[in-house]
Amino acid sequence: MFKEMERRYFRGLGGDSVSVPSGSDRGERIEGFFAENGVSLRVDGVERGPVVTKYVVSLGSDRDHVARVENLRRDLGIRLGVGAGRVYIGETPWKGGVSLAIEVPNAERAGVPAGAVIPVVSGDIARDGLRVCLGVDTSGRPYSVDLSVAPHVLVAGQSGSGKSVFLNSLICGLLDNYGPGDCEVSVVDPKGTEFISFSGHPGVVRYGWGIPEEGAVVKSEEAAAHLEALVRIMRSRMAAFAGVGAGNIREYREMTGGSMPYHVAVVDEFYDLLVNYPEAEGPMGILAAKARSAGIHLVLATQRPSADVVRGALKANLSTRIALKVASRTDSQVILDRGGAETLCGRGDMLYMGPDGDAPVRLHGCYVSNADIKGFVASCAGR
Ligand SMILES: Nc1ncnc2c1ncn2[C@@H]1O[C@H](COP(=O)(O)OP(=O)(O)OP(=O)(O)O)[C@@H](O)[C@H]1O
Ligand SMILES: [Mg+2]
Repeated sequence: MFKEMERRYFRGLGGDSVSVPSGSDRGERIEGFFAENGVSLRVDGVERGPVVTKYVVSLGSDRDHVARVENLRRDLGIRLGVGAGRVYIGETPWKGGVSLAIEVPNAERAGVPAGAVIPVVSGDIARDGLRVCLGVDTSGRPYSVDLSVAPHVLVAGQSGSGKSVFLNSLICGLLDNYGPGDCEVSVVDPKGTEFISFSGHPGVVRYGWGIPEEGAVVKSEEAAAHLEALVRIMRSRMAAFAGVGAGNIREYREMTGGSMPYHVAVVDEFYDLLVNYPEAEGPMGILAAKARSAGIHLVLATQRPSADVVRGALKANLSTRIALKVASRTDSQVILDRGGAETLCGRGDMLYMGPDGDAPVRLHGCYVSNADIKGFVASCAGR
C-alpha cells in the first residue's frame, strides 16, 4: 500500500529553485592582483552561484604555474576582503576540457531550499539506480549520485559544519523517492536528538531483535546488534544470489523481479560510537568490506576526521568522501587526500569526491529542519 503512495513531499515545500544574490564583479581585480605579483592570468568566465562566485581562469604563458596561483591564494583572499582562508582553488569543466577555478564566497549567501534538492531524482531504480541528490553545485544546479555504484560514504567535518543536516536531507531524499520495497534506511543516532523526527516512518528500520522494527531509530547501545543483524542479512542475501546465479542485488532484482530493497545504514558520530561501543567495529568493518554487492551501503559521519579514527581498511572501503568545513588542511587531507575543505564556508558547503578519485566537486547542501521532517513523516502516515 505504501508503494502506491504518491511521494515527492518535498516538492510542495516552498522554493524549488535556488536564488542567486547580486553583487559586483571582481574579475578585473583578480587579474590585476596576479599581474602585480608577476603571474599572467586571464579570467575567461564568471559563474555567480548561491554561495560562491567561480572565476574560470587560464594561465597566460608557460612561465605561469598553478603552484604560483596556489601560493598567492591567501593574499588574494585578503586583497578581496573575504579573509585569507576563504578562497578555494579547484578545477572546473570548461569548454569541453578542464580549467582552473578560483572560488570566492559571496558577501550575501542564498539558502538552498529542500524543494530544490530532494525531489529532483526520478526514484526509478531499474533505470537510474539508487540516485539521490546531494545538493546544488556552485552554479545552483542539482547534483545527484547513484549510491548503488558509489559504494560506502564517509562524511566528515567540524562541529556545526552541517553533517547532521546533510544526513537528514539524504535520508529524506531516499525515503521521499523510494518505497520500502526499493530502499530502506536505518539510522544510528548517538546523540539521540538529531534523527528522532524520523521515528514512525515505515521506510526507517531497526534490526537485531527478530522481526525488523519499522519506524525505529537505532540508539548507540543497540548499534552493534543492529549492525550484526545487517551482516546476517548480507550473508543470507549472498546465499540467495548464489541460488539463482546472480552476482549482486541489481542482477538478482532483474532476474527474479523480487522486491529485495537496498539498505542504506546511516551512522552519525561513528567515532564516538566506536569509542563507547567497540563491539560495533567488527560488524561495521565486515559491512564496509563486503556488503555493497548485497545492496547494503554505509554512510558514516564523524566530527573527528583524525587519522587514528578514519584508518586502514575501513577508510579504504569508504571510497566516496564528503568533506564539510574542517579546521585545518591536515584534516582535509585525512578526508580527501588533499587540502581544500579548510576553505569552505560552513553550513552545508562541501566537497564531494567520488570513488574514481577525480578532483572534488563543490556542492551546497539544502537545509531541512526538524519541522520539515515531522511534516514529511506525518504526511506518509496520513496517506
Ligand atoms: N545546508 C544548510 N543550510 C543552512 N544552514 C545549515 C545547513 N547545514 C547546517 N546548517 C546550520 O548549521 C547548524 C549546524 O548543523 P549540524 O547540526 O548539521 O552540524 P554538525 O556538523 O552535525 O555538528 P556536530 O558535529 O556538532 O553534530 C544547523 O543547526 C544549521 O543552523
Ligand atoms: Mg551533528
